[in-house]
Amino acid sequence: MNSMEKVYGSGWAAWLRKHSIALQIGTTISCNVAYLMDAGHTRKAATLSMILLGGVSLYCFFSRRRKINARDLIVITGCNSGLGYSLAMHCRAKGATVLAGLRQIPTVPNSSAIEDLKKQGVIVHHVEITDEQSVRDFREKVKELLEERQLVLRALINNAGVMVFGEFEWQTQKLAEYQVGVNLLGTMRVTRELMPILRENRSRLIVISSHCADQSLPGISIYGATKAALHAWTTSLRVEVGKYGIEVVSFIPGGFVLESNIMKRQRLHFDEMRRHMSEEVQQYYGNYFTRYTEYFSMPSLTENRDNPKIVSDPRIYEIFDNALLNVYPSTIYRCESWRYFFYRILFKSTPTFIRDRLVQRFVIIPPWKADEK
Ligand SMILES: NC(=O)c1ccc[n+]([C@@H]2O[C@H](COP(=O)([O-])OP(=O)(O)OC[C@H]3O[C@@H](n4cnc5c(N)ncnc54)[C@H](OP(=O)(O)O)[C@@H]3O)[C@@H](O)[C@H]2O)c1
Repeated sequence: MNSMEKVYGSGWAAWLRKHSIALQIGTTISCNVAYLMDAGHTRKAATLSMILLGGVSLYCFFSRRRKINARDLIVITGCNSGLGYSLAMHCRAKGATVLAGLRQIPTVPNSSAIEDLKKQGVIVHHVEITDEQSVRDFREKVKELLEERQLVLRALINNAGVMVFGEFEWQTQKLAEYQVGVNLLGTMRVTRELMPILRENRSRLIVISSHCADQSLPGISIYGATKAALHAWTTSLRVEVGKYGIEVVSFIPGGFVLESNIMKRQRLHFDEMRRHMSEEVQQYYGNYFTRYTEYFSMPSLTENRDNPKIVSDPRIYEIFDNALLNVYPSTIYRCESWRYFFYRILFKSTPTFIRDRLVQRFVIIPPWKADEK
């Protein structure tokens, strides 16, 4: 059993997980139908049965999936680690031809990232999404693959992203531009360069988003702004390019910070903040900044996973498959725990003063003590 199968589970387990909500609803309605029949309410039972049947037909119709095979090319950016690496492995395991964009050759000499990808048959190519020429070269690689192997570009997955923790006032303009440059402008650059190919192949554009696009959180206000901006962009783009046959989908993968490299440069970012902090700011925040940096520099968060592992939550792949393969895709696919789900609903439905308190409960960060300098 390979690592992807271990995460994803066997066919039956995956099928049951995928349809578990529909099965629960179906079972509940069936029990009600049986109860009504037993109690002699045959008309009500018949109506409920019709509703159940209609629901099942609609469910089956709208959850139909396309099949993928080796003629389908899937292009993913940011595959050195974390989600990009895992999705590249996953799509390859499903039989697609995968082109994985990697920004840099791993720094650890015996890193297995590229070797593992290649071993699974994933094609790797350098791409730095903030660099015009690099993105053009990447586009040429996509074209070359499509022509040489007679493939169809099934999807472009804009996954590459960066995140910097720290209060807004501490983050330098350079750090702000870094996050906007990669997450927003880089994603736009890759998409623009590949647009003619996406149009020609009537491909699907999948943008990796975040819960922060819905609900921006303290400590990652700039990251949240980039993801919210991506959301606004995809909302317009979906209608703009829908008429050319391109489908635009956002995928929110949930939280897996401990299995990705997204925090690996956090200590360097804190150094940068510290170096550029004015005397006044340093004095004002005092020990709070130190406690904050210590908390977010803990090894489990900032460890460089140059030998990346597959992200272990199987639901990510099940929901991603819907985003990739559903014949009638939704605009957003979310992978979220019950905790995320409840908080998201509460954030949207409560008055601001309650919502802001809930946000503080949700985000676990060192507390601010006004008298501590
Ligand atoms: N981790 C989470 O809990 C979480 C939650 C929600 C959403 N997301 C989103 O999921 C996506 C993947 O994040 P991850 O957690 O898997 O992080 P990750 O392990 O750091 O992967 C991000 C990838 O993007 C690449 N990248 C960064 N800047 C780039 C650039 N300028 N050009 C090309 N590639 C670049 C990175 O390359 P290097 O290794 O060279 O930096 C890395 O391969 C991001 O869009 C993130 O916002 C993550």
